Amino acid sequence: MKTFFIETFGCQMNAHDSEKVVGTLLNEGYSQVVDEADAGLILYNTCSIRDKAEQKVFHRLNEYKRMQGEGKKFAVLGCVAQQEGAKIFEKAPYVSMVAGSSSYRNLPDMLARLEAGETRITGLDDRETDQTFDTEFTARTNPHRGYITIIEGCDKFCAYCVVPYTRGKERSRSSASVLAEAQRIAGQGFTEIQLLGQNVNSYVDPSGRRSFAELLAAVGEGNGIQRVRFTTSHPRHFTRDIVEASDAMPALCDHIHLPVQSGSTDILRAMNREYTRDWYLERIAWTKAARRDLSLTSDIIVGFPGETDKDFEDTLTLCDEVGYDAIFGFKYSTRPNTPAIHMADSIPEQVKVERLAILNARQRELQRVNYGRHLGQTMPVMVEHGANARGQITGRSTQNKTVNFTCDHIPAIGSYIDVRITQAFPSSLVGEAVSRSTTPSPVLLAQQALNARVPVLA
Ligand code: 5AD
Ligand code: SF4
Repeated sequence: MKTFFIETFGCQMNAHDSEKVVGTLLNEGYSQVVDEADAGLILYNTCSIRDKAEQKVFHRLNEYKRMQGEGKKFAVLGCVAQQEGAKIFEKAPYVSMVAGSSSYRNLPDMLARLEAGETRITGLDDRETDQTFDTEFTARTNPHRGYITIIEGCDKFCAYCVVPYTRGKERSRSSASVLAEAQRIAGQGFTEIQLLGQNVNSYVDPSGRRSFAELLAAVGEGNGIQRVRFTTSHPRHFTRDIVEASDAMPALCDHIHLPVQSGSTDILRAMNREYTRDWYLERIAWTKAARRDLSLTSDIIVGFPGETDKDFEDTLTLCDEVGYDAIFGFKYSTRPNTPAIHMADSIPEQVKVERLAILNARQRELQRVNYGRHLGQTMPVMVEHGANARGQITGRSTQNKTVNFTCDHIPAIGSYIDVRITQAFPSSLVGEAVSRSTTPSPVLLAQQALNARVPVLA
């Protein structure tokens, strides 16, 4: 029997890539095991976005070393695989396959070679590939949300970012293929879809049929689809028709993740972000003028080379001005191959730590106010987790806010329920259910039960 175990790190794109890898393996006759000791093939889907990712990967591969000799095979996938390439074989000779995400479409062939006993298989397509990894064999492991990759790769070359080198050039799927997948997902009982791309709103339909905003609307029109989300948007390509599509299409969620990275125009220029503070704030003004209450979230880097106290202050005031509902703050770290590697990493670690702490503390106060505005409101919540130790169920609002609530019955995961908000914290809301929950499709419930027995992804 062919068995595999997969371990996944990184962003939603990576998690969803693993769903596609798992689906491909299942289709090739493998079965998934929960314990790596029972696996004939161990796959490790890696991330290299920040910090010393390569070191962590080699550390983990060293642990795999102990398991050799049991006839096991090892494969390294994802961004570190692409970045380090065949060097991985030198440092970890027991690894037989190294493949970056732009080669996954060749996975069936690579698996056949692995089974034939080859030990130096590489899938390291460079930036030039214009193929996407479309497969109908996707393991749907999230119990309530179906992911669809609509665009792979990135052509933006932000100075700090490794993604354009690890994921290759931008290439979009045809809108017809995206819509066909959306329909398949809806047929599996999912009511929530998240469209994915490192740079999702740079989407260009190869068939020329639909703009990104039109694709959003078309996905939202799908049978049974109640929530459509999309990440990650780039401000440079954020167009007004995206806001208009939200206004017109009830299924589009009230949430836009629009990473600014810095509030200082000088730093944005050094980062090669291709917009200024004012340009960004103009897009924010569009979202605030929308008929719907669009929640905004962001990624922010502190301590980019040359960031002065004034630059950092600009980031703080930008956050005040926008009033984000959440930010993901990161200390700048040097990444291999990126343009910023030639800039001195001039901000001392201690300053980065302090700036991040100041940013997070300031943001927490903004969120205290933002979340407080929901007190007394009643909102539809999609159930994501069963009851915790305090008997609270956890779900999410259309704005992507976590809502913990009590309920006189046990709502199914993936169902919707109206919750009245009685308490607000800086990053979660508390309430009580005021309606009966909806009933998810039996197909979805059956799939959830199957995944619970054999967890496909951690
Ligand atoms: N250092 C710190 N943060 C980074 N990010 C990307 N590259 C780096 C880096 N070298 C952050 C950005 C991006 C998020 C996914 O990770 O904020 O939006
Ligand atoms: Fe990285 Fe910039 Fe591309 Fe985002 S847009 S993946 S930050 S290069």
